[in-house]
Order: sequence, then C-alpha cells, then structure tokens
Amino acid sequence: MKKALALILALVMTLALAACGGKAGAGTSGGSASSGAKTYKVGVAIYQFDDNFMTLYRNELQNYFNSLSNDSVKYDITIVDGKNDMAEQNNQIDNFISQGMDAIILNLVQTSSADAAIDKIVKAGIPLILINREPLGDNGDESYKGILDNAKVCYVGADARQSGTYQGEIIRDLANHGDVNGDGKISYIMIEGDPENVDAQYRTEFSIKALTDAGLTVECLDDQIGNWAQAKGQEICANDLAKYGNQVEVVFCNNDAMALGAATSITAAGRTVGTDIYLVGVDALEECQQMVQAGTMTGTVLNDHIGQSHTAVDVTVKALNGESIQNYYWVDYVKVTK
Ligand code: GAL
Repeated sequence: MKKALALILALVMTLALAACGGKAGAGTSGGSASSGAKTYKVGVAIYQFDDNFMTLYRNELQNYFNSLSNDSVKYDITIVDGKNDMAEQNNQIDNFISQGMDAIILNLVQTSSADAAIDKIVKAGIPLILINREPLGDNGDESYKGILDNAKVCYVGADARQSGTYQGEIIRDLANHGDVNGDGKISYIMIEGDPENVDAQYRTEFSIKALTDAGLTVECLDDQIGNWAQAKGQEICANDLAKYGNQVEVVFCNNDAMALGAATSITAAGRTVGTDIYLVGVDALEECQQMVQAGTMTGTVLNDHIGQSHTAVDVTVKALNGESIQNYYWVDYVKVTK
C-alpha cells in the first residue's frame, strides 16, 4: 500500500514538474515564461545613434514595444549603437545571437556588404527585420533579395524614389519653377547623404528627374557628400554660396538635418528663402515643419518614422508569434509644403 502511494506521489510530482518546465510559447519562435508573463528578447542594432531621424525612429520603436507589453507578454528590448562602424555592428550581431535574441531588428551600417551579417542571423534561425537601409548584395547587386525568400526575413522601409520625386515636384510647382533669375535654367546644388545608401542615390536622382520630366532645364553647380549631417550641410552650402553667389537658385538636401545646416549658411550669406533662393529637404523634422510654415524652408517630405517603426514592431510580433511575414513592407512619404 505504502509502495503504491509513493508511486502515485512520484507520478504527480513528475507531471507537475513537466508542466512547469514545459517550453514557453510552444508553437512560437521562442520567448521565455516567468511569473506568468512570456518575455521575448529583441535586439535592435541602429547604424548610428548620432542621426536625427534614426533617433526619432528608435525612440518610437522602444515606446511602441513598451505599449504592447502587458501582463501576459513582455518585450525586452536591447538597442545598440553601431557608431557607423560595420565591424562594431558585426560584433553586436554576434552578441545578439549568443544572447539568444528571439528576433533582431537591423539598421545596417553598410548596405553594400551586408551578406555576412544577414547570413549569420538567418543561419541562427532568428527572425530578421531589416529597417531604413535596404541592403544590396556584396557586389552592389540585388543578390540579398534571395535571402528575403527566407520566411523569417523582411525589409521595412520607404521607397526613396518617391521622396526624391516629391522634392523635385515642390520646386517644379513654384511659379518660377525655381528659376529665380529667369535665365531659362534651374541652377542648383545637391547635398547628398551617405553615398552608398539608396536613399541618397534615389533622392539625388529622382529630385532632378521630376524637373527634367516636366521639360525644365537644370544646371548642377555642385554635388557634395554631407553624410546626413547638419554640420556638413552647413559647410558645403556656405562654400557653394561663397563660390557661386547668386547663381545658386535651389539647394537640394537629401535630408532635413543637412537642410538645417544649409539654412544657417543661407541666412549668413544674406540670402532669403522664398525670395532669391529655395531650399528643400526630407524627413519633416519638427523644426523643419515649422520653418516650412514660416517660409524659411521651401518644403520637405515626411519620412514617416512613426509608421515605419510601428510596422517594424508589428512585423516583429507577427514573426515572434510564428505567423508568416511578407518580404517587403513599404510606408509612404508625404509632401510637406505648408
Ligand atoms: C534616411 C533619413 C536620413 C538618415 C538616413 C540614415 O531615410 O532621411 O535623415 O536618417 O535615413 O540611413
């Protein structure tokens, strides 16, 4: 009798233990369960914290993850700064893998040599959500697109061609089409972001294409790399205004941070936006929206960090729940002229 009781007791204990130790979130991609809530660990690698737009983006990403955490599910988010150094970012990715992240959100430092970084995440079986910087294959080709066939990899972003086109259209739609001196051509300077980034390439190309497609004649006085940075925008614009003076009719900046710098140089050179010069950017930073309202900037294009970060989080949650995800998620740009 005693023996039978001991056997029953042992059986009950084994069952109880099995129930406690059961894999959390069975049927999902991972996560751990303690004190009732299932916790998912998500690693977020940002190319550089020192970037106005990506700062808004990452703060919103964190806030939105927080807002989705509740008594039954928690998102434990680790955000790291790649400091614009691919070697540093590769180490961060290795750490994420060894820390057992349940998903990785990746804003690549170098889009042209992303294959290795992407490969190791894919091999580790971790869902990968690429954001903001669409990768290219190592040869500058689109070989990475094959990787997107992997069910757990996707890209969330905005089509930079659209933002460039909108910038060009803002100038095209001015009464004088940006031709201040009426000599029949729009003389401009272009201040570019990181040249290996498709955002910079497409904005540069499509802003001008919108003008030439409308049958307008353009003249490029200068085209310089400002690496998305305000100080560089200011320096390049100041040099060009000193060199070309009143010939400069339009200042195209691939983003608002550089346009903010350019605005300072325009004022310092005694020029007036809307009267003898025009200035456009992309991102619609709060400060630039106010400048557009005040007329000290001709226009900008909303790069929707809220839409993009929320989409990235929603897709991550889907992947964590074991749901299928698409290859691409696109968020629209919006023209801002008042
Ligand atoms: C662009 C944005 C820039 C900069 C860049 C980083 O989409 O307009 O301001 O943040 O991303 O790759």
